[in-house]
Amino acid sequence: MIRPMARSDKSVVMELIEATAFFRPEEVHVAEELVDVYLNHPDQKDYDVVVIESDEHEVAGYLTWGETAMTVGTYDLYWMAVSPRHQGKGYGRRLVEWLEGRVREIGGRLIIIETSSTPKYDPTRRFYLGLNYREIARIPDYYQDGDDRVIYIKRLV
Ligand SMILES: CC(C)(COP(=O)(O)OP(=O)(O)OC[C@H]1O[C@@H](n2cnc3c(N)ncnc32)[C@H](O)[C@@H]1OP(=O)(O)O)[C@@H](O)C(=O)NCCC(=O)NCCS
Repeated sequence: MIRPMARSDKSVVMELIEATAFFRPEEVHVAEELVDVYLNHPDQKDYDVVVIESDEHEVAGYLTWGETAMTVGTYDLYWMAVSPRHQGKGYGRRLVEWLEGRVREIGGRLIIIETSSTPKYDPTRRFYLGLNYREIARIPDYYQDGDDRVIYIKRLV
């Protein structure tokens, strides 16, 4: 089941982000900031956060997304993670497919995802390519020397 993130999910979501052992401390900090904006400012429209539950009703993963500022119908998938013990079971796919359905529902045209070019992100990039996201641009040395910003898109209409 995919549902809006609740305040009571925060500790589990932060634990699963840490458990991926994927993100640097400053990245975890930014992930938490986005979650806090969502939880503490119910009237804001920039960030939406959903969680996916396993059959045992455990939070298995989460996804942050929102409308891209100064665009008409473009949406960003800002952040997502699936806990290591739930990875490879289709939760990530379901989260992305849910986002696509939701963006279509609200008249969106385009989803953008950005990630890093480093070998650590090979599986993540394969994951997005497998979901038919297309690499549209690369900004060389964006994150740091040797670490490009890779931009994927999917057109929905
Ligand atoms: C990337 C991530 C979100 C994928 O979630 P997941 O639940 O493990 O992925 P799924 O089980 O839904 O896999 C969906 C598809 O992607 C493929 N896939 C998933 N991980 C893959 C990998 N490491 N290598 C190749 N393909 C992969 C699966 O084979 C599957 O294909 P199929 O549906 O045709 O069988 C998850 O592994 C994760 O949290 N990684 C660490 C954090 C991260 O990279 N976050 C995104 C960057 S912000």
